[in-house]
Amino acid sequence: MIRYTGSILLGLLLFLTSFANSRPIVDDLIRLPSDHSSTLAHVFPDVDDDSVGTRWAVLIAGSNGYWNYRHQSDVCHAYHVLKKGGLKDENIIVFMYDDIAFDEENPRPGVIINSPHGHDVYAGVPKDYTGEDVTVNNFLAAILGNKTAITGGSGKVVNSGPNDHIFIFYTDHGGPGVLGMPTFPYLYADELIDTLKQKHASGTYKSLVFYVEACESGSIFEGLLPEGLNIYATTASNAVESSWGTYCPGEDPNVPGEYDTCLGDLYSVSWIEDSEKHNLRTESLKQQYELVKTRTSSNPFYSSHVMQYGDTELKTDMLALYMGTNPANENFTYVDDNSLRPSSSNPVNQRDADLIHFWNKFRKAPEGSSRKKQAEKQFMEAMSHRVHLDNSIKLVGKLLFGIEKGLDVLETVRPTGKPLVDDWNCLKTMVRTFEKHCGSLSQYGMKHIRSIANICNAGITANQVDEASAQACPSLPSGPWSSLHKGFSA
Ligand SMILES: *[C@@H]1O[C@H](CO)[C@@H](O)[C@H](O)[C@H]1NC(C)=O
Ligand SMILES: *[C@@H]1O[C@H](CO)[C@@H](O)[C@H](O)[C@H]1NC(C)=O
Repeated sequence: MIRYTGSILLGLLLFLTSFANSRPIVDDLIRLPSDHSSTLAHVFPDVDDDSVGTRWAVLIAGSNGYWNYRHQSDVCHAYHVLKKGGLKDENIIVFMYDDIAFDEENPRPGVIINSPHGHDVYAGVPKDYTGEDVTVNNFLAAILGNKTAITGGSGKVVNSGPNDHIFIFYTDHGGPGVLGMPTFPYLYADELIDTLKQKHASGTYKSLVFYVEACESGSIFEGLLPEGLNIYATTASNAVESSWGTYCPGEDPNVPGEYDTCLGDLYSVSWIEDSEKHNLRTESLKQQYELVKTRTSSNPFYSSHVMQYGDTELKTDMLALYMGTNPANENFTYVDDNSLRPSSSNPVNQRDADLIHFWNKFRKAPEGSSRKKQAEKQFMEAMSHRVHLDNSIKLVGKLLFGIEKGLDVLETVRPTGKPLVDDWNCLKTMVRTFEKHCGSLSQYGMKHIRSIANICNAGITANQVDEASAQACPSLPSGPWSSLHKGFSA
């Protein structure tokens, strides 16, 4: 747990650098809206005007499990911001596994919070798609508005028309070219992009904004999302780095002691807390992008680069066009002077957040209790599955490309603007082939998808990968972290 021992040093560093950074980085386009409010009405038509069409939203948490508390918490919180903004329930579609509020680990049964002193965000959230209905198929069908393709759930879909505005928010674990789901398979970038192209071709929206929190989330759009679809996307991280959980145990401002899990994600709470406070009729997508980018990159050690893709000219749109705005915030327009100044927090890498949970559970459980034993077992299983996956993929690389060249090929990162892989079907076939022998990639193992993509890019055949994986993993691992009990992730 280097993170804890390093925090004193980090605190000192933050103190020393805080003078230099005390002003948020804003460019000259961000001014107090009051500076130019007289021109606003002229430049931006009243977003309450019925002629702008209907606002739709799709909110999805791609995970389950108590150690992933923060993703469903982000989604619940986002729902309330949109609801208070004036969106109707019939236009907000929520996907969440719904196993957090009443998990036995939840210290406040029936309550979910998204920040240390936050209110309950669980009450009132529509349960459109929960449990095993949170699937790639349902998510994509809901975006397309194709009710007949939906299985289970409320059947609510984005039944939008040509003047409508759509907002989509996804939060979970991810990896290069992939977004996690609580069910199998996961969501691959090519399928998501194809769906967005199809939605555009159907002429059923005016513009669409997509916010994505996940590790390597830039890889979902990098070199893949074309301009001209009227889509503006921002992601928590670039194509090659982690995104970060926040409000984690031991963090300052202190998370209530009874919570052994992170309460939010850094990029997600950055936009949600900003939207919750301000008059969104006077704040543009660009202003929010800059604010979120600054907050998400504020910590020198635990930070990621918020990215933007697609039709960036949509940035001048006011947030209210997508999120509505809470009438109670009509006088809160000071975007330069808001609560989003970097706090001295220690965010936790998405991929380590489960370990933090098991570790804190272990640390706090009474000596000799069955709870302590259980936490230790969970921690050890998660660790050993990680080691197994790391070693197996390396061995496959060495078997395919030789001891010297193997790691170079696996770790190759394509230049900015190029998609992760040319042949997505190859990638998915290779993922299944690897998993058949070596066990499920699981949340942690999604990080290795770049290596598997590189194997495809090198022109290796499925037979070769099959043989190499069989050699690397002579027996299929057992246990909850490594079994194939649910299916393949591709
Ligand atoms: C909707 O989904 C069904 C079932 O997958 C499919 O057959 C149909 O073509 C889809 N409709 C449209 C308009 O895409
Ligand atoms: C905003 O300020 C105006 C003028 O001071 C006031 O009349 C109005 O009630 C305020 N709105 C809210 C929601 O507080």
